[in-house]
Amino acid sequence: MRPSGHDQLTGHAEDLIRGRRAVRAFRPDPVPHETLRAVFSLAGAAPSNSNTQPWRVEVVSGAPRDRLADALQAAHAAHRTSVDFPYDDALYLPVQRERRSEFGGRLYGALGIDRDDHAARAAYDAESLGFYGAPHVAFLFVSDHADARLAADVGGYLQTLLLAMTAYGVDSCPQGLLSFYADTVRRELGVNEGKLLVGVSFGHADEAAPVNRISTPRAALETTTTFHDR
Ligand SMILES: Cc1cc2nc3c(=O)[nH]c(=O)nc-3n(C[C@H](O)[C@H](O)[C@H](O)COP(=O)(O)O)c2cc1C
Repeated sequence: MRPSGHDQLTGHAEDLIRGRRAVRAFRPDPVPHETLRAVFSLAGAAPSNSNTQPWRVEVVSGAPRDRLADALQAAHAAHRTSVDFPYDDALYLPVQRERRSEFGGRLYGALGIDRDDHAARAAYDAESLGFYGAPHVAFLFVSDHADARLAADVGGYLQTLLLAMTAYGVDSCPQGLLSFYADTVRRELGVNEGKLLVGVSFGHADEAAPVNRISTPRAALETTTTFHDR
């Protein structure tokens, strides 16, 4: 039996959503400009409260990308961090911290870094500010007045963007780390307003890199989702 249009869409969605993964080693070859336009245009189809589309996106490539990587690494070396949305470890429940720790074990294992080797982990952070070698990076900003409510809108945009990239054969890594250098990002890009939520490094994966082969299993459905139906 031939699959119906609906079944085909389900199959494509399974492939697209489960086929996306965070890539942490890229080849340097850039994504063609036409593809960039198509990807960011598709991402703009994301839903938002009252269609407000409260995101502002800065896409950085070429020489500005290289200058920004240098500036971020200099800021890191000088301990010059600046966050628009403060980070607090209390954000996460114990079970979520366990998941983070399990993920960290897989990541550092693939990188050959001992979990207790703080110097090696700091060096990896510094390296991460070079966008894992990706030729492009996009930054998602919200307005100066924005608070946590807009995280729902921009979260929707972020996932739509990542899936649009996957659909166009572009690999990506969302990097919360980049938001710890908000002032440096604004200064280098000449952005005078807006608060930085997250950056996304993107390009084409270096498939040979062991770090790109880690698996990140998800929690069982029942542990995150309740169906209220009786
Ligand atoms: C908002 C957000 C911030 C993230 N920040 C980082 C980061 O700073 N560095 C990093 O290597 N990965 C980062 N990631 C990627 C996650 O580690 C990754 O999505 C998660 O482990 C699940 O793996 P998968 O994306 O390969 O399915 C981030 C993901 C999201 C959604």
